[in-house]
Amino acid sequence: MQEFDLVLKNAFVNGAYVADIGVKGGIITALGLNLSPTEDTQIIDCEKAIVTPGGIDGHVHLAQDQSPRAKEAGYRCADNVETGTRSAVAGGTTTVMLFAEQSRGQSLLEAVENYHALVASQGSYADYGFHAIITDPSEKVLQEELPVLAQQGIMSMKLFLTYKHMRISDHQFLHALLKARELGMIALVHAENGDLVDFFTEQLEARNLTDSKYKAIAHPSAAEAEATNRAVTFSTVMDTPLLIVHVSVPESAKVIRKAQANLQPIFAETCPQYLLLGKAKLDQEHFCGAKFICSPPLRSEKKDIDAIWRGLVNGTFNIFSSDHCPYRFEDPSGKQLGLTRADNGNPQGMFTKTPNGLPGVETRVPLLFSEGVLRRKCIDVKRFVELTSENPAKLYGMYPQKGAIQIGSDADLVIWHPESFTPRRLKHSRDLHDNCDYSPYEDIEFLNWPKITVLRGRVVFRDGVVQGRSGYGNFIKRGKCAMPVVRVMEQEWDVLHAAV
Ligand code: URP
Ligand code: ZN
Ligand code: ZN
Ligand code: ZN
Repeated sequence: MQEFDLVLKNAFVNGAYVADIGVKGGIITALGLNLSPTEDTQIIDCEKAIVTPGGIDGHVHLAQDQSPRAKEAGYRCADNVETGTRSAVAGGTTTVMLFAEQSRGQSLLEAVENYHALVASQGSYADYGFHAIITDPSEKVLQEELPVLAQQGIMSMKLFLTYKHMRISDHQFLHALLKARELGMIALVHAENGDLVDFFTEQLEARNLTDSKYKAIAHPSAAEAEATNRAVTFSTVMDTPLLIVHVSVPESAKVIRKAQANLQPIFAETCPQYLLLGKAKLDQEHFCGAKFICSPPLRSEKKDIDAIWRGLVNGTFNIFSSDHCPYRFEDPSGKQLGLTRADNGNPQGMFTKTPNGLPGVETRVPLLFSEGVLRRKCIDVKRFVELTSENPAKLYGMYPQKGAIQIGSDADLVIWHPESFTPRRLKHSRDLHDNCDYSPYEDIEFLNWPKITVLRGRVVFRDGVVQGRSGYGNFIKRGKCAMPVVRVMEQEWDVLHAAV
């Protein structure tokens, strides 16, 4: 007879069929009817509640203020690894992808090692992997250091086409893509045209138009669309998969969709803020608009947001991530860095000095379940699982260890009870587990919230209370991207790639 540490009875697996889920040693070892527990088996009766795989958040910034660049800017992230991952598991996310950031001139290996040590010292509640942010793709970094990272299971890099201290040139971008192709790594790109953003910013500053609401004007949709088009073009030329992160405008979604229709290996991510918040949030009294400053910025109210929803439903977007990047509103090293005094002594917002980013690692999964599956009913549970767990696992080389309810997968599970939940609004101080001091989603009525989160067979969150401990989270050594791609190499490029 099979022995189990944990049996989830009567689980409505992915909203598709009812079965018991047997877990041993943190792994799903049986899926079937009437699994027999032994005396020591922990039993959770799901009562036919929906059970989905633990969420995988592909885009989470935690403790990123430790890099030399961030230290120089004087920003203090609201969340370290402990508080950020505590918040993750409380929202049904069991794996987070964090960013190890290289500063210009710094060895990439050193940057990753430092971040590894920091994460280990702070302790994670959730399993985690790293994307390597490359700001200085020197010959040494590309030829010597990246292959070492690939061996360590760090199989993704983030490249920036904007931000003065981080962006790379087109030429460097092509070199990085070529190396990604050779190593089977996936490149993530922050696609905004940095010169265009800088130009608009300079023009606004010259006119003293610096309040938070001008953030949206400083980052025109054309800056995102142009950079997306360029990135897609480069990916095609290099015949290398590329993921466009935090897509916020219909123009970009259109470029991506067209490329995908041509079977180009383009993947895309969007985030809750671009589906649920509009740029009017930036225009608030008492500097409160600063709470909503992020890059790309929040967009217009209806047209843009509807287009992003369509992209989520029709498959343009493969993954749905939080881009959790929290700064406390009241902290002088957080959002308050952007509050200055005008010449007449009046308080004045300076969007260029306000740290970029919104909190959201805890609300991501419940928001999509509530808004997408239950309220708008525009996605089913299957698509919800793809967006929040299965596709990030495939894209980032963790599938089927993660992102699946299958025999042999890690027992990372979320139990929902949509029928018995009383819809309610969030209050940050009462409901959330991060270390920020606000949530951008306090106006939204949640129709459901995970009742139980299980990570590798252990209950880490139950009925509003985190039960896990920091340090339980493991580093996940990842393999190659497992999203299906069709290679459509042009004859002229065979010469280039043949040498690789
Ligand atoms: O505003 C944002 N998104 N901050 C995080 C950094 C980034 O570009 O993802
Ligand atoms: Zn070159
Ligand atoms: Zn970015
Ligand atoms: Zn980000």
